[in-house]
Amino acid sequence: MTSALVLVAASGLAREVLAVLRQGSAYDCIGFLDDSQALPGATVDGLPVLGTIEEAWRLPDAHLLVCAGRGVVRRAIISRLAAAGVGPQRYATVVHPRVEVPDGCRIGRGSILLAGVVLTAAVDVGEHVVVMPNVTLTHDCVLEDDATVCAGVALGGGVVVGSGAYLGMGSTVRENRRVGSRATLGMGSVLLTDLPDDQVWAGVPARPLTARAPQ
Ligand SMILES: CC(C)(COP(=O)(O)OP(=O)(O)OC[C@H]1O[C@@H](n2cnc3c(N)ncnc32)[C@H](O)[C@@H]1OP(=O)(O)O)[C@@H](O)C(=O)NCCC(=O)NCCS
Repeated sequence: MTSALVLVAASGLAREVLAVLRQGSAYDCIGFLDDSQALPGATVDGLPVLGTIEEAWRLPDAHLLVCAGRGVVRRAIISRLAAAGVGPQRYATVVHPRVEVPDGCRIGRGSILLAGVVLTAAVDVGEHVVVMPNVTLTHDCVLEDDATVCAGVALGGGVVVGSGAYLGMGSTVRENRRVGSRATLGMGSVLLTDLPDDQVWAGVPARPLTARAPQ
């Protein structure tokens, strides 16, 4: 028996999630909610845009999955939905069918793990986290709520990725380092030290680009 699922934000990430669901899932995706694409007759990859985000109240039996690519945007949408009466139990979790989640690893509610993600041991993935294809999460890594880890990232053992942080494609982080909350690590970077909250770092080795949060 499948449950109805609505993807919130008709983004590229949402289309990737839909492709995963179409490979076989406990969820039956019935469409999208999106503020900018909620036009009469609008469809995305063959499914309807059912309305704006606040219209989640019209679908009380459907699970939801917030598919904005940036964690800070996901959190803002979740706050809006909470104000409209959507509780945490409404959120689905989607893990690609060939991703193995070993005993001792946890995946939080509302999170998305795409194809080729590897979790080795005691990996903790928080809520509304997005892990894109071919990411390697080694022992004792922690991804706090709303973190986003782009394709091809590799984390050494014991790395902590703070809430709302964004790790660009192909970046790597040395073991036992912390990426601060809402920080950004540029694509291809090699992080050797802790990265403070809200900063943008990039390069090999990674250095600060700016002390402001990315927009
Ligand atoms: C780090 C990042 C956020 C900076 O973006 P930005 O603020 O628009 O920065 P700019 O492109 O204006 O570049 C600013 C400077 O940083 C350098 N820079 C930017 N990204 C870099 C990176 N990943 N590695 C090394 N240097 C980088 C630029 O060369 C430029 O240097 P300069 O001032 O000497 O010319 C962005 O480049 C990045 O890596 N984003 C992640 C992209 C990604 O992974 N997308 C996945 C989508 S699924």
